[in-house]
Amino acid sequence: MTLLDFNNLFKSKLSSKIETNELDEFFFWLIEHYCNFSRMNYILNSNFNISKIQERKLINSIDLLMNDMPIQYIIGETNFMDLVFKLNNNVLIPRPETEELVNWIINDTHVNKNILDIGTGSGCIAISLSKNLNNCNVSGWDFNDDIIKIANQNAILNNVKVLFEVSDITKPKFLNDKFDVLVSNPPYITNSEKKLISNNVKSFEPHSALFVEDNDPLYFYKKILEFAIFNLKSNGFLYLEINENFSKEVLKLLKDNGFYDIQLKKDFRLKNRMIKGIKK
Ligand SMILES: C[S@@+](CC[C@H](N)C(=O)[O-])C[C@H]1O[C@@H](n2cnc3c(N)ncnc32)[C@H](O)[C@@H]1O
Repeated sequence: MTLLDFNNLFKSKLSSKIETNELDEFFFWLIEHYCNFSRMNYILNSNFNISKIQERKLINSIDLLMNDMPIQYIIGETNFMDLVFKLNNNVLIPRPETEELVNWIINDTHVNKNILDIGTGSGCIAISLSKNLNNCNVSGWDFNDDIIKIANQNAILNNVKVLFEVSDITKPKFLNDKFDVLVSNPPYITNSEKKLISNNVKSFEPHSALFVEDNDPLYFYKKILEFAIFNLKSNGFLYLEINENFSKEVLKLLKDNGFYDIQLKKDFRLKNRMIKGIKK
């Protein structure tokens, strides 16, 4: 089979399911990943004959896409802040709006700071901060070892030192060394919003990374603030990604807990997606 044959097969099977631009992107991700073939190589040499092993993997990826598996889990990696992150279905696929949160923190140019990323998942926030901020000690916490293994792999892959640890944010903690900066993109989609979420997210991404109970949509924000009261320094910064439907409530929570200079920020879809505050 040539790459061109595969492209034709790929499009004939998936064009009714996946929009054309995205399908093109996926095709190039797959041939890059399985055949080490760049977009330019393909344009110059689409009649390249692929091996039987490559053919099997590429055709298998069509079946997986037919079954709604996200391309990032199929190839086991994604890009975030121009870095590569390994993924499996224990960790959320990093989103572009989270890149905006990270850029917000980078633009505040923290130097020589102790930073903690709560609910680190793939480690995308912690690792990109460590890569882009000077002289900061960055830590990342998540609630199980399978997640922390992936985050550690990603730190090695991206050549940064981040201290990843298993730690449950819902359990009270009183640390000797306080943090200068806390950041979190916690689970924030309510169960009743599940019906609005696409099948490939619901069926493949970890629900513990996404969903919260309808009767307590701010659960993780409350836990993070309880943590911040004792473990964030005075004048320390808190950055949170938020559900656009609860921006006012999270803002009030920060105010009620003694934060000042609180700023809400919209994402590229113009939704209130992140908030920052400074502790008194
Ligand atoms: C929305 S995901 C964010 C993942 C990653 N930081 C990102 O931005 O792509 C929420 C993360 O919170 C973690 N989490 C859920 N419950 C937790 C808990 N009790 N303690 C610590 N982390 C938790 C999940 O495992 C998941 O990695």
